[in-house]
Amino acid sequence: MDNDILKVLYSKEQLHEFNVKLAAELKRDYAGKYPLMVCILKGAVLFMTDLVRELDEYVELDFMDVSSYGGGTESSGDVKILKDLDTSVKGRDVIIVEDIVDTGATLVALMKLFETRQANSVKVCSLLDKPSRREEEVQVDYVGVTVPNEFVVGYGLDYAEKYRNLPYIGVLKPEIYSK
Ligand code: XMP
Ligand code: MG
Repeated sequence: MDNDILKVLYSKEQLHEFNVKLAAELKRDYAGKYPLMVCILKGAVLFMTDLVRELDEYVELDFMDVSSYGGGTESSGDVKILKDLDTSVKGRDVIIVEDIVDTGATLVALMKLFETRQANSVKVCSLLDKPSRREEEVQVDYVGVTVPNEFVVGYGLDYAEKYRNLPYIGVLKPEIYSK
């Protein structure tokens, strides 16, 4: 897999630092609150499992799989729920855990959904933020790092379902896309 990578953007060590920083912010804001952390599959799995190990607090974990209607870069207010939560969000302090916020369409739809389901509060924690591609106004409350407008893989993020298991985040060589 390493041979397919043009450049490493964030090393394993840097990713660990982002997780430590984000965990400190969450500990400060959620002390004594028992938040429900919602991991958006599949991209955020590696991030969330590392992040929660830095949190010396009680948290509940749940998982959700969604896909945007319409596809492409078309902005859409709705998401299709492929796997819903097991837990009720009613009255809970929800933290949506994302790998990357790109157009913002997924998050806008999820925020609306959790508000309809009467969550007490909904915040967003994303490892990566790509504001250059934003189409929807959305507040990302906790950001690991802001990324340039490049397609990134690794540490949960995929290209055609590959590279999720890279321990770092990088950019693919252009020839990989043309294969
Ligand atoms: P929106 O546009 O709704 O979408 O904010 C966020 C989702 O788009 C995917 N995405 C990427 N996946 N490398 C990836 O592997 C990228 O650079 C990238 N940019 C967006 C991702 O699934 C994210 O959850
Ligand atoms: Mg995703």
